[in-house]
Amino acid sequence: MIKVYTSLAKRLILVSSLFLVFLFPIHYYGKADLVEHIKGYYNDPSIGKLRISDFSPYEASVIFPRDFSINKGGDNYTDLYRNHLGVDSNDNGTIIQYTGNSSALTNKIVKNTYKKHQISVFDANRETKNCGRLKVDTDIEIAKYDQVDHHLDRMAKKLIEQLENDDAFKDLRGFFKDDLPKQIMSNTLHHHFFKFSGTSVWLEQHGVHYMISRVLYNVKGSKRGPSLSLTYAQVFNEKWQEMRDVELVYPTRHPNSNDIVYKNGKFPSFLPIPFYSDSNFQPHRFYGAEDPRLLLVKNDMGVEEPLMVFNAFHRKIKDKVLVGENAMNITFGFYRSMFLCWPFQYQLGKVNVDDVRNPETDKVVYNKVIELRRENTERLSIQKNWTPFVDLSERDPYDKHIYFIYRWANLEILKCKLTDFDLNTESQCSFVYKRNPDLKENTAVGPMRGGTEMIPFNLHGHTAWIGFARAHIKKCGCGSSMYRPNLAVIVKHGDEYKISYLSSSITFDIPIVGWTNPKKLCRYNDPDALIPNGISAWETLGDDDYMTLTLSVADDSVHVIHIRNLLQKVKHLAKSEDPQRGFDENAVECTLKKSAQFCRSYGNEQKKLAEKKQ
Ligand SMILES: *[C@@H]1O[C@H](CO)[C@@H](O)[C@H](O)[C@H]1NC(C)=O
Ligand SMILES: *[C@@H]1O[C@H](CO)[C@@H](O)[C@H](O)[C@H]1NC(C)=O
Ligand SMILES: *[C@@H]1O[C@H](CO)[C@@H](O)[C@H](O)[C@H]1NC(C)=O
Ligand SMILES: *[C@@H]1O[C@H](CO)[C@@H](O)[C@H](O)[C@H]1NC(C)=O
Repeated sequence: MIKVYTSLAKRLILVSSLFLVFLFPIHYYGKADLVEHIKGYYNDPSIGKLRISDFSPYEASVIFPRDFSINKGGDNYTDLYRNHLGVDSNDNGTIIQYTGNSSALTNKIVKNTYKKHQISVFDANRETKNCGRLKVDTDIEIAKYDQVDHHLDRMAKKLIEQLENDDAFKDLRGFFKDDLPKQIMSNTLHHHFFKFSGTSVWLEQHGVHYMISRVLYNVKGSKRGPSLSLTYAQVFNEKWQEMRDVELVYPTRHPNSNDIVYKNGKFPSFLPIPFYSDSNFQPHRFYGAEDPRLLLVKNDMGVEEPLMVFNAFHRKIKDKVLVGENAMNITFGFYRSMFLCWPFQYQLGKVNVDDVRNPETDKVVYNKVIELRRENTERLSIQKNWTPFVDLSERDPYDKHIYFIYRWANLEILKCKLTDFDLNTESQCSFVYKRNPDLKENTAVGPMRGGTEMIPFNLHGHTAWIGFARAHIKKCGCGSSMYRPNLAVIVKHGDEYKISYLSSSITFDIPIVGWTNPKKLCRYNDPDALIPNGISAWETLGDDDYMTLTLSVADDSVHVIHIRNLLQKVKHLAKSEDPQRGFDENAVECTLKKSAQFCRSYGNEQKKLAEKKQ
């Protein structure tokens, strides 16, 4: 199928000018039900039986959301699409409105074989420095992992297309020159591109998984010292088959008028995220969005949409000195800072990133982003690894704030605005909890860091969040450092937060490969990495609950694994939950100790295996 690529800008304008008749009906939902935060499923007999996997994932399709209604009689979706959204494209794919189940669960997930996998959890409520006494051994149930296909070819072709046609990618041409077709021809894409850190959310209005992955590009063909980090968005049906050519129709705000309009986003594609870059200055620069995390928030249109948290290198005006009546000297400072990006929302230009206007980019349509700033503090030169979560008890009727675990050891919780930014360039953040108020602003965060976002749930009447942190332990006996997931449960009591349960390293029985040479583990200078990236779904069915988790091995894969009855398990463990106890560092310290031990014995094992081979 031949498709004419229309630039986003052109389409948006077409859509908005013709589309005002289809103003989105705003629904507000009541205060979220705190009883059970895990998403339910529809048992409503009016729910259509068809799911997205009933349509071919290889053929073009357009998916309208369940709540979309054509309020003018006589139209049908095919006409609607052709007349308003697909104007310039000769797309003749299937046009559907999703009316199927809101659940991401499939027979395969439910009927899968799950086996027991032992983990050690440290229970902060026991309040002892004795790690042996803090530790509880328990089993979780895991299914065999799957791996999301790599398909670097298709991805590179997409990139060529976007570099040529999409104004938001014009800036980046200097990084690629004419290299991509050559890399495709010579079959060397895998030396230049590393796709990992896949994190996804289930869009129940469309019946699909929406996944973003980080894509590193290195012009020289090595994994170290990449020049650029891009964000690739893909759509999967409920069976985790990639949709090769799909458009999702979603409500968005017009970047000029702020009116609510519908837009169609085409996937797979790279997200037009605005970031500072200059291909003339490459060595030792790391441009683009790094460490993306994805979660769902409810916006002021009453719709759940994906929100991405990331960090990026940027430059900001640091100093202005007057040099004459009508001129001044400006000095820039360079920082790596935290940002939010709304993949389904847009902005014109990128003055909010670069701090200066630029006629080259002022009219270009990018995804909407905003920098996260801690109130009343200077920017740090590097800021990263904030672990996001939302507090559903404050969803009234939409999410006005996002929270972050800023620090795990000496727990600190940061609260940032999602709306009503004082300046259009920053979301103001303030600390709502600090275990140790005397800790300096720039104290290092320590080896316990955020892995996935945290998912809210109700723990015996307390507001709680579950997710996977990752300990990053340096020089512990295997290569330069080791990363492994750690299960974490955060509980809120009054205005105070604590890490109530934290596990030591979990392997999920996923085989690790070497970071530079797949066959060589624990090589000097190489990290050994299994990193949890995101929780794609977590639902209950009858008495059982199912979680879908994504992970990356050696910064070069997207693994998906299903876990059964984690909620049950945690609720059982949490019989010990005590609002008065556990506000201390014992669990974090024991986790780090135990994880370092794990690293040492793993390193020794690898050494022995390597010796045997020789
Ligand atoms: C929706 O999915 C859930 C979970 O798979 C299932 O139990 C339920 O019967 C489905 N509902 C309908 C109407 O098909
Ligand atoms: C919708 O419009 C298309 C194109 O005009 C037509 O082929 C199709 O039969 C219509 N569908 C319905 C259900 O009316
Ligand atoms: C879609 O359109 C293309 C080009 O106009 C044509 O070659 C192709 O057969 C069409 N496919 C279908 C399924 O109608
Ligand atoms: C302004 O910048 C120019 C060019 O870098 C420099 O020569 C000049 O000294 C600067 N003036 C002041 C007042 O800093």
